[in-house]
Parts: sequence; structure tokens; C-alpha cells
Amino acid sequence: MVEFPILFTERLKLRKPQKDDEQIQKEILQDKEIMRYIGMEPFKTIDDVRNEMKWFIDLVEKGEGIRWIIALKETNECIGDIGFHRLDKRHFKCEIGYKLKRSFWGKGYMTEAGKSALNYAFDKLNVNRIEGLVDPRNLPSIRLLERLGFKKEGILRDYEFERGEFVNLQISSILKREWEKMKNDN
Ligand SMILES: CC(C)(COP(=O)(O)OP(=O)(O)OC[C@H]1O[C@@H](n2cnc3c(N)ncnc32)[C@H](O)[C@@H]1OP(=O)(O)O)[C@@H](O)C(=O)NCCC(=O)NCCS
Repeated sequence: MVEFPILFTERLKLRKPQKDDEQIQKEILQDKEIMRYIGMEPFKTIDDVRNEMKWFIDLVEKGEGIRWIIALKETNECIGDIGFHRLDKRHFKCEIGYKLKRSFWGKGYMTEAGKSALNYAFDKLNVNRIEGLVDPRNLPSIRLLERLGFKKEGILRDYEFERGEFVNLQISSILKREWEKMKNDN
């Protein structure tokens, strides 16, 4: 079994999913507003939720990325998740993904988690480039990527077929050298 890394930030712990996160993950995955731009229908059953959480762990086990539960450091309560998928070792790149329970929006938690996760990806997943694919209407997500230093590259036209329609996705990225420079400048 591959060890699942844990990260700590000022207010947060990024850790492995556990059984008692299921209820909050269910709330998140069933929340229409959270799921609006994620490209998946809101989840219906607890089995779907369990499969999603199993995917978080499988990514690590299979060496295909990682997805942490974001928990409050003080209480260990799950408030969301963040991680990297589509890890492409040949080209040293991966894609970022994240969601936060609605009551925790607007408090800087994802920015805090994102900085720590990016450090991990550039240092330990050994990537040179991290991509963010976001629906252009998803302004909180676009603002988050900008805060983390991602640069917009363009629009992928009709890139996905969701809920009966083709949708454009904005592609942004950050490179390892840009991340290092940002850290040195701050
Ligand atoms: C994307 C998502 C995680 C962004 O959440 P968020 O709360 O805006 O992001 P953060 O936790 O980093 O908080 C930043 C916001 O808190 C404010 N804030 C308050 N205290 C802060 C602090 N200490 N540090 C940084 N920001 C702080 C910022 O001003 C910012 O708000 P603004 O963008 O209106 O200026 C959230 O909207 C979400 O879960 N969406 C649904 C899932 C989703 O779409 N995922 C992405 C698919 S591509």
C-alpha cells in the first residue's frame, strides 16, 4: 500500500479520506450550486459518493495523482477536497481540481489549501506544468486560479458535452519556474 501524504497549513490539514467524511462529501456532491460547473450531475446515491472517495485514494495507489480531503486543523472536519489528476509523467504535467462546502466559501480556505497542494505537486509529483480547466462562467474558480498564479491560455471550444449541451472551457496553467518565482517574490 502506498503511503498517503498529509499536508498542514495555518488553518488546514490535507489528509486521506476516511469513513466519517462520507456525510459531508455527500452534501458537497449533491449540492447543485457546487456541482454546477464541475461537469458531473449532482450525485444521487451514497454508493456514488463512496466510489468518488475511492477514486481519491486510487489516484495515489495507482500513481496517477492525488486528491486530499481538506479538513479544519482544529476539528479534523471535512470542508472540501483538492488534488491533481491526469498525471502525465512523460510530459511532467497534471490537472488541478477542487471543491469547497458552500458555508466555507469566501474565507480564503481554498487559496490556503491550493498553495500547499501546488508546492507538493511541483516538489513531489515532479511536474513542470499544472493545468486548470474551468467553465468561463465559474468566476470564483477563475479568481482562485489567478490568485494562485495560473495564467489564462485560451478557450477550448465545445470541449465537453454536459447536460445536453457543448460547453467551452477556459484553460489556464502555471509552470514550475513561475511558482518558484512567485514564492521568492513573496
Ligand atoms: C472554486 C471555489 C473552491 C472557490 O472558493 P472561494 O471561497 O472563492 O475561494 P477561497 O477559499 O480561496 O476564498 C477566496 C475568497 O475569500 C476571500 N478571503 C477572505 N479571507 C481570505 C483570506 N484570508 N485569504 C484569501 N482570501 C480570503 C477572498 O477575497 C476571495 O473572495 P473573492 O474572490 O470574492 O475576492 C468554490 O467556489 C467552489 O467550491 N466552487 C464549486 C466547485 C467548483 O466549481 N470547483 C472548480 C471546478 S473547475
